[in-house]
Amino acid sequence: MEEPSNAADITPEWLGALMHGLGLISAPADVTGITVERLGDGVGFTSDIQRIGIGYNRRIEGAPASLVAKSPSSNPALAPATKERILAACRKEAQFYSHLANQCAVRTLRVFFAGVESGLLVLEDGNELLPGDQVLGCPYDRALSALDSLAALHAQWWHDPRSSSHEWIGRRIPDWLDSGAQARYRSLWERQLQGEGEELSPARRQIGDLLVTDFHKVQPRLAVPVTLVHGDYRVDNLLFPPGAGDPPVVIDWPAVALCNPGVDTGYFLSGSVNSTDRSASIEQLSRHYWDNLREHGVTGYSLDECLLDCRLGVLDALYRHTIYYSVFDLTADRAQRLWRAIRSRHEAAIEELDLLGFLANLGET
Ligand SMILES: Nc1ncnc2c1ncn2[C@@H]1O[C@H](COP(=O)(O)OP(=O)(O)OP(=O)(O)O)[C@@H](O)[C@H]1O
Ligand SMILES: [Mg+2]
Repeated sequence: MEEPSNAADITPEWLGALMHGLGLISAPADVTGITVERLGDGVGFTSDIQRIGIGYNRRIEGAPASLVAKSPSSNPALAPATKERILAACRKEAQFYSHLANQCAVRTLRVFFAGVESGLLVLEDGNELLPGDQVLGCPYDRALSALDSLAALHAQWWHDPRSSSHEWIGRRIPDWLDSGAQARYRSLWERQLQGEGEELSPARRQIGDLLVTDFHKVQPRLAVPVTLVHGDYRVDNLLFPPGAGDPPVVIDWPAVALCNPGVDTGYFLSGSVNSTDRSASIEQLSRHYWDNLREHGVTGYSLDECLLDCRLGVLDALYRHTIYYSVFDLTADRAQRLWRAIRSRHEAAIEELDLLGFLANLGET
């Protein structure tokens, strides 16, 4: 039977064969029909997400009532180069679910199918979990759980030689950091300034200007220490169990990579948590993460190094934000509200962490 290459191609016959192969039903024909509901409109930027309701010929213990299919975005407005990047990212996510999800120290959804060529994923439906909402921001208690999970993940892969046997993971060296990177970034930053320059705080504008000339001081520092990072650790990509303090389920893994953990902590703390909602500073929250890392057995990594990496991670997040401004379609209502929310959190983080002074004093590597 032909394998579907995107969510829209999934048939009851294929799903029946898949579930039979996994031992969930006694015959493929037990699946009698499917319904398809589009999910995540205005939430997912890069993929088509569909909930597949499954009809059975009888009640079958343990067979799921629904699953979720994720495939590369079919949005016709995307430029061909962007589409290609998205396909590569979805393939990487499929690799993650094929090889690592089951052994990761963070909670993930059960995977039923991962197409490493097509990028199609069929996952457990997390509909009983509460999705985080980055427009509103991550509440403080959930931010602590999210940091606990992050520490568990990073500690598990801290300098782990096993990671080198997974070639597909790759170091996180963005393709825009080649010789033409500075000129390209300059033009993206100019585009952002033209589009929303008047809405940016003076410090955000200054940081943007400085990153054009000084990001080369930040980027090499993000190569070590090496661990496995999620790469898009924001609260929209977390699903929370109802019990307070229970670890979140982490979804959306296409940006998984090997690099400095600050890429996750700085991105999360500057983009997902309102400064007004937390009863601790970013530095205190970084310390919470660091305490957890140590509890999980990481040694030889001082608190100062952790705080430095978090600052580098925030600068990296600001840099990426300028790229996203040009790459993503921000016209939908939620995308606009999300953009504004992240922008104001970034501006608060710049002040709180004195990133202007930090970047100005960062030496050459
Ligand atoms: N298996 C699932 N169960 C329940 N909800 C899901 C599932 N997968 C995705 N979602 C919902 O759909 C949203 C988008 O999914 P996901 O983050 O994987 O896609 P994406 O297009 O890569 O997102 P983005 O690029 O915006 O981060 C999630 O934020 C979540 O609310
Ligand atoms: Mg997502």
